[in-house]
Formats: sequence, structure tokens, C-alpha cells
Amino acid sequence: MTKETDNIMDRNLVLDIVRVTEAAALAAERQVGRGDKVTADQVAVDAMRDALNALDIQGRIVIGEGERDEAPMLYIGEEVGTGKGPKVDIALDPLEGTDITAAGRSNALAVIAMTDEGGFLNAPDVYMQKMAVGPGIDPNILDLDAPVADILQRIADEKNDRIEDLTVCILERSRHEDLIHDVRASGARIRLIGDGDVSAVIATTDPQKTGIDVYIGSGGAPEGVLAAAALQCIGGSMLGRLTFRNDVERARAEKWGIADFNAVYTTDQLAKGDNVIFAATGVTDGTMVRGVRRTPDGAKTSTLVMRSKSGTVRHIEATHNFARKTWWDKY
Ligand code: FBP
Repeated sequence: MTKETDNIMDRNLVLDIVRVTEAAALAAERQVGRGDKVTADQVAVDAMRDALNALDIQGRIVIGEGERDEAPMLYIGEEVGTGKGPKVDIALDPLEGTDITAAGRSNALAVIAMTDEGGFLNAPDVYMQKMAVGPGIDPNILDLDAPVADILQRIADEKNDRIEDLTVCILERSRHEDLIHDVRASGARIRLIGDGDVSAVIATTDPQKTGIDVYIGSGGAPEGVLAAAALQCIGGSMLGRLTFRNDVERARAEKWGIADFNAVYTTDQLAKGDNVIFAATGVTDGTMVRGVRRTPDGAKTSTLVMRSKSGTVRHIEATHNFARKTWWDKY
């Protein structure tokens, strides 16, 4: 493929992947507030897989629903697409925030990222310690081992702000009790969230809109790779370190080629920079995108889609007419 064709392919792909996250979000939205996270996830997976298989790509899932024996669809290693077109590695989460969706809370997303072969860290489904900030802050000041008050002071200095004016987003989990204590003791404020740290990391890229300056804490490693892919496009940086609760998790990491269990990964190592595309469609209303809204004829969706090569960030509002969607009744 020539460079020019290659470029046209990924430009087209940017718009094509919007259909993929829209399909998953539209399907998941039917399950919002029904208290059934398994069904919500399943319909999002089905819809995303159908939409992905319509794309002219030779896709390979690197971050997916789990390993082959535990996930029948969109499992790690599954090949998707028509088999024509560019070879791409895919990281996806058809429903990021299954509990949020089941409970009808905010910030659930359908998310996908693509890049060249080998561009994403093969992150196993374990936890990852994460620290993320938006654009304009020197990535070198981030440190997962320094006292959090020191890091926050450095971020405040970079922003010409007082530490009291920083808001740190943290997942509300008992494992974060000490972190929450230390952040409050530093003078910074905290926005606690119930779920959804992909959305929280992206929120750091636009503090004026979201009110979130920093994301810190431990969440899913696959979500860490997706968040890094988003930052490669929109700007900002993060650090991630895998954490393991037992030997089963360590063995899973080894299987995916992780040799150093203490490695701290930079944004570039989580999602290599130059050819990433990323899309997220809101399922429920969130800080960066609105959720699916029903209309008399169908629904409206809001999608954030972006591309690292050009740095273009698009907000796509779509109106869907269900009477004309032949695939819709399946979900
Ligand atoms: P799911 O959509 O898989 O439920 O993930 C939601 C989420 O909140 C992620 O955003 C986050 O990375 C992870 O779960 C945190 O894991 P845990 O709920 O085990 O603390």
C-alpha cells in the first residue's frame, strides 16, 4: 500500500469506526437502568462485533472481552473485518461501565481504538495503577512512587495554579482510602466516581469543561490502554503499572509477553503514538459526550472521534431513524 493510500484508508476509517461505537451504544442504551449488566454488555458486544465485521479491515483484537476460553466474542486474538483493507490492531470495550448502565448512572461509553500492528500493549485483564493529566503538562513530572502531594504540587506549578484549585478524579473503592486521605491532606479536591475511568482520564484533557485536572488510582489495565490511545490523539499523558493479586494473574501477563512485572508504562508504551484512531459514543450522559437520546423516530448519539496523526478531534452528533435501519431489530 502506498503512503497516500494508507493515509486515505485511515482517514476513512475514522468515520467508519463511529458507526461501530454508535451501534454498541444504541444497543446498550436499551438496557440502561434495567439492573442487568450482563445483558447490557452482551447486546453491546453483539452490535459492535456486527458493525466491526462490516468494515474493510484485517483487524485483530488485542484488548477485548477476555481470553478465548472465557469470551465467545470479541476475544483477544479474534480476527474481525471483511479481511480486505489495512491490517490493524484493535482495543475495544463495547460497554465501558456495565454497572453504570445497569443502574442508569452517568458516564457509560462504547469505546474502540485502532492502530498499526503491535501498537498497543498486550495488557492482561488485571489492575493497573494510573496517573493521567491533560495537555500542556510536562509528562516527566508524573511519578507513581512519589508522595501524591508532591505530584499535585508539581502539577499545580505547571498550571500556575494553587494546589487547592486542583480536582483529582478517583474511583470510589476501599483500595483507594489512603490515596483519598493523602489527596485531601494535600489541599486538592476530589471527584469520586463509581465507575468508568476511561471517561475520567479523557476528562483531564479539558478541565474547563469537566472540572477534572488529574486522574489517579487503580483500575482495569485494558481500560488503561484505551485511555492512553485517547490521550495520544487529544493530548495529555499518563503512566500505568500493572498490579497483580496472585500467580494466576502473573501467569496471564506472562502469556501476553509481559516479562517485567514492575514496569511503569508511558503513554507511548501503552499505545504507540503516530497512527492511533479512537472513538467513544456516550451510552449515558457523561463529562465529554452525551448519552443516547430517544426521539419519536429513533435516537440521537454523540461521539468523540479522533486521530493521532492529524490531532483532529471531532464531535459527531448523529440522528438515527430506526424505521430505516435494517439491522436494528436484532438488538
Ligand atoms: P466495566 O465496564 O467492565 O464494569 O468496568 C468499569 C470500571 O469502572 C472501569 O472503568 C475501571 O477501570 C474498572 O471498572 C475498575 O475495576 P473495579 O470495579 O474492579 O474496581
